[in-house]
Amino acid sequence: MARRILVTSALPYANGPIHLGHLVEYIQTDIWARFQRLRGHECYYVCADDAHGTPVMLKARERGIPPEQLIEEMAASHQRDFADFLIAFDHYHSTHSDENRALAELIYTRLAESGHIERRTIEQLFDPREQMFLPDRYIKGTCPRCAAPDQYGDSCEACGATYTPIELRDPVSAISGERPEVRQSEHFFFRLGDFTEMLRQWASPDHLQAEIVNKLNEWFEAGLRDWDISRDAPYFGFQIPGTEAKFFYVWLDAPIGYIASFRHLAEAQGLDFGAFWEAEPAAAAQTELYHFIGKDIAYFHTLFWPAMLHGAGFRTPNAVYCHGFLTVNGQKMSKSRGTFITARTYLEHLDPEYLRYYFAAKLGPSVDDIDLSFDDFTQRVNSDIVGKLVNIASRCAGFITKHFDGRLAARLPQPELYREFAAQAERIAKHYERRDYARAMREIMALADQANQYIDAERPWERIKDPQQREEVQGICTVGLNLFRILVVFIKPVMPELAAAAERFMKLPEQRWADLQTPLLDHPIERFKPLKTRVERTQVEAIVEASRDTLGMAPSLAGDETDKTVRKGEGTGEGKGEGETQETQGQAGAKRQAQITIDDFAKLDLRVARVEHAETVEGADKLLRLELDLGGERRQVFAGIRQAYTPEQVQGLLVVCVANLKPRKMRFGVSEGMVLCAGPGGDQLWVISPAAGAEPGMAVK
Ligand code: 2FM
Ligand code: ZN
Repeated sequence: MARRILVTSALPYANGPIHLGHLVEYIQTDIWARFQRLRGHECYYVCADDAHGTPVMLKARERGIPPEQLIEEMAASHQRDFADFLIAFDHYHSTHSDENRALAELIYTRLAESGHIERRTIEQLFDPREQMFLPDRYIKGTCPRCAAPDQYGDSCEACGATYTPIELRDPVSAISGERPEVRQSEHFFFRLGDFTEMLRQWASPDHLQAEIVNKLNEWFEAGLRDWDISRDAPYFGFQIPGTEAKFFYVWLDAPIGYIASFRHLAEAQGLDFGAFWEAEPAAAAQTELYHFIGKDIAYFHTLFWPAMLHGAGFRTPNAVYCHGFLTVNGQKMSKSRGTFITARTYLEHLDPEYLRYYFAAKLGPSVDDIDLSFDDFTQRVNSDIVGKLVNIASRCAGFITKHFDGRLAARLPQPELYREFAAQAERIAKHYERRDYARAMREIMALADQANQYIDAERPWERIKDPQQREEVQGICTVGLNLFRILVVFIKPVMPELAAAAERFMKLPEQRWADLQTPLLDHPIERFKPLKTRVERTQVEAIVEASRDTLGMAPSLAGDETDKTVRKGEGTGEGKGEGETQETQGQAGAKRQAQITIDDFAKLDLRVARVEHAETVEGADKLLRLELDLGGERRQVFAGIRQAYTPEQVQGLLVVCVANLKPRKMRFGVSEGMVLCAGPGGDQLWVISPAAGAEPGMAVK
């Protein structure tokens, strides 16, 4: 019987581009949704941009545009990337939408009416210059436990301590550089503890992976704490009904975006919205709801989310499936190593189906991290897809076209081999259903080996020379192409374009899983064209080169992860829980020409400096380390001018230095300013040098 399934992936933040780390999840979910449809089920896959929150607000401000414009641009760029990676959403929405506002208000109101929302006044750090309360990840200071400097407001990377920003010593606002002050504000809390029993029941292996059940049990042991769901203005989000300047915290309305996206789809297509979301057992029994997410946001999806749904009279998910993180060549993705690769950069050089296949070959049902190793990627794609799978067709098709008028034989000489392959369909389907794609890919490739061995053993290229054996060659190649057809359908959820090209080649309508039980006989085929080409090492190198951050800069703020405490679920109480991703990339924005006012320009403290000493930096082929004299004050600056200048050429030069640039931690040390240059970069770069007569320390006007 056809199932009715709704699937989601986590909503990407609207403040940065999609990168390969994100794609693990969208590819994982898309394969599962395509698989379900291929099996004849009704399966909807919806998603949306996660548009609200402080990082979006600040990024828009930095670019001098309204947040609405930023999120529109991001939504367009995300959707282009997803489409080009063949992610087939049924609908892609935004959390900044009418549907989401209405649903967020409805859910909040129902929770409030049932007594699950409580108001309390709390103390938080406030930036007097920016006139805003600061999220934890926008505060830096000295760890109260180990005294490590430059730590975030919620946890210390040196000693692992977690604390509130008020406990941080010498706090500084990462937005303005000002010392924040402690102020009081009334916040709204969701009483998660009210749902402990319900959540304990729900958190079973029926709904969650074993690792996540264990994690939840730890959280239950520790006791579920109230969740702060409000933020003060200025905030880009939805205003809380009945308040003046309180907004829903981004994580409150983000998952509601799943419902909003489906509601939009349901209205556009006349689907029964209630059947997928109402709590009535009758409705929930007919439909299935699955969320695919990364393990870092399990707390939000396995505690807050089911509790919110239940408390507001909606159905709870059938399952929340977590995946692990992506490492590249065994390490965290890194801009300086060129392994922080955006979807677009990958697409400029390589076929998206190669990454889909590679991730599928690595993804199992557990929450383990997966590694993208460039050597393994190249080798596996070339050997499995080009060398094994596509090779079956290319070895058989030519004979059929050339000697048999492009027509398959009317009977199979080895029907048992066909039956053996077709009989694997249920087994492979089980692997897909369990999200054990790695196992499915292994078994598909083992079958591809078997098909190639069959062709090797039957030697059509020799038999064709003997007029007595011509007919046999047609039979052998018909078997070969029928096995190829089965394998292409097996791999279709992973490589839908390859499958479509194979369908065109075999003059077939869109194939479904059930079609495999009948072989293709006495059927015309097209002339064979290579379906996939090999990955070249140079293509991978070009991706890394294009992704390398030439200045080797460490991310200035939170990098791509914030609110580590909530994400790990170790604390969800007052003052915590910003949970927002600080800008992950920033390059896209930085390249655009944002207008600045004269006041912005006046903020620059430009000074004449003399290069007292210059030297190369080991491990950085673009950098020179400069020691500058700013009129009595000595500064170290790392300048990306090595391709244009030798150390000797700059030593003694007068330069212009941005003296009030916030010091930046780089891989090689702290850079305490910036030297101005003209030119496009590389060896085409000229240091801007004040005329003779200028003295170190003078202001540049
Ligand atoms: O972690 C993130 O990237 C969030 N934007 C995910 C939100 S998923 C859902 F809750 F909306
Ligand atoms: Zn510490």
